Amino acid sequence: MSSNHIDEHEESHNPPRLKEMSRRQFLTYTLGGATAYMAAGVVLPMLRFAVDPILQNREDGSFVKVVEESKITSEPQEFHFELQQQDGWYNSTATLTAWIRKNDEGKIVALSPICKHLGCLVGWNNNQNFANEYYCPCHGARYTADGKNLAVAPKPLDEYMTKIDNGWIYLGEIVPNTVVE
Ligand code: FES
Repeated sequence: MSSNHIDEHEESHNPPRLKEMSRRQFLTYTLGGATAYMAAGVVLPMLRFAVDPILQNREDGSFVKVVEESKITSEPQEFHFELQQQDGWYNSTATLTAWIRKNDEGKIVALSPICKHLGCLVGWNNNQNFANEYYCPCHGARYTADGKNLAVAPKPLDEYMTKIDNGWIYLGEIVPNTVVE
């Protein structure tokens, strides 16, 4: 049997092709496609993870449910609450403190405990020499129940924005004191 006869026999069993693809080209295309597919599976989620925080709506201006209004008296009370914070793509929970009372005008006043002198934490009625005042143990700053600065500190205590909904007090961002002069 001649070799010509074998070639003719093999060709007769192969389907006709427009253009032959070499084994090397086939492997290149197949491996290239598979690599691109796997790379996309790894890189795209990372890209989304990196970009997502930038695209997300920032939660500035949002309020946190803290306490029922019925529990608030004219005497300041200390409350702690948690706030979800997004810093870039880092998500964390901060525990914040507010001193809340209802003043003589019936307004809910929620004060930040951060002293306006150098940032220590004030307390209410925590110095027996200064009854019914906020007092800062670091350098002796004093404030009224509405946060007015009486000594050492240059400004009144900041306050939280407040909102009342369905009998609950919600606290928002910290702003300069709007209650005292
Ligand atoms: S930090 Fe409060 S008095 Fe100085």
